[in-house]
Amino acid sequence: MRRTNPERAVATDGQPVPVRLARDLASRIITWQKRYGRHNLPWQKTRDPYRIWISEIMLQQTQVEIVKTYYESFLNRFPTVSHLARARRKTVLRHFAGLGYYARARNLHETARRIVQSGKGFPTDYATLVKLPGIGPSTAGAILSLSCNEPHPILDGNVRRLLARLHLGRDPERNARETARLWALARELLPTRNAAVYTQGVMDLGALLCHPRNPACNRCPLTKDCRYRSTPDVRRAGPGTARTRSGSRRMRLLLLRRSGRLLLERRPPDGIWGDLSCLPEIPPDESPCHWYRRLAAPAGGRVVRHPPWRHPLTHLELSIEVYEMDAKDDAEQLLVQPTHWVTGRQLRGEPLPRPIQRFLATRGLTGLPPGQG
Ligand code: ADE
Repeated sequence: MRRTNPERAVATDGQPVPVRLARDLASRIITWQKRYGRHNLPWQKTRDPYRIWISEIMLQQTQVEIVKTYYESFLNRFPTVSHLARARRKTVLRHFAGLGYYARARNLHETARRIVQSGKGFPTDYATLVKLPGIGPSTAGAILSLSCNEPHPILDGNVRRLLARLHLGRDPERNARETARLWALARELLPTRNAAVYTQGVMDLGALLCHPRNPACNRCPLTKDCRYRSTPDVRRAGPGTARTRSGSRRMRLLLLRRSGRLLLERRPPDGIWGDLSCLPEIPPDESPCHWYRRLAAPAGGRVVRHPPWRHPLTHLELSIEVYEMDAKDDAEQLLVQPTHWVTGRQLRGEPLPRPIQRFLATRGLTGLPPGQG
């Protein structure tokens, strides 16, 4: 086993990395990426900043394997920034449904509109990019490095972990001082040439070797200079790094039918499934009985309570229950969110959350086969 050389290890806490060492580390990252990094991801087939932007937004908080299943179809539907800008918001959301964090879809749409309005094409300067909705410093850096080969630092979750381990010997903390230090380190390591390969390299090292648990240090080109290896286990875990589901939430939904149609609501923009269409939700602190007494048609007013099922979100587990009934004439007027009636055929055009789409498909209510999505 190779030992860490403390003389060479990446400077002490807070100190800049000596320039020669920084160059050496960057060059090892580049060599490693060319040989062992990822080269066949769908967004690596292009240098088009629009396409790379779409991939970087989809990849925020979402795994590569999931993004792969959405990326091509999104770009088939919106091949250029003008197509995206011209689309209705509902259509953009529908193509994003299933990826979660729907604020991303709203920001994509708004940004596309601003870019088209500016009449200057997709921006390729950092100052303009970083001001657009949904594009923070790391995403702007990634877009320009990967599309234009311009050196800009990035600091997404994986890279943050990689750099914190290398430099501090432990997992990162989420505080402003440490964030500033890690950005400084990201800038110090950045090479002046081969920015695209280097950027992909740090992303690949973070994702493929520097795992949150059981990092593959023996295969990492940075090992001999990495402080993490020489840090005792007990001091390695940065406070508050583990992402745990913070609890569970019961979600009770209403499947209201009338004349072969069913009622959907538009969810509030903030919170779970923001802005998507969904079956109307019973407010969490109110009783379902109270609601179906108000909403169910009096004649034959049978209410079917479907068995609840669990659906994990990133920070939360939902337990979803659906109450199905024939609706009274004025049912929709009693609901708070904006609602609309749709036929089974129209459901296909609605931006529905995946678990709801699947549930409706099992009830024979959408054009989708039950297992899809
Ligand atoms: N995560 C964020 N950006 C990425 C990219 N371009 N390739 C792979 N994973 C990523």
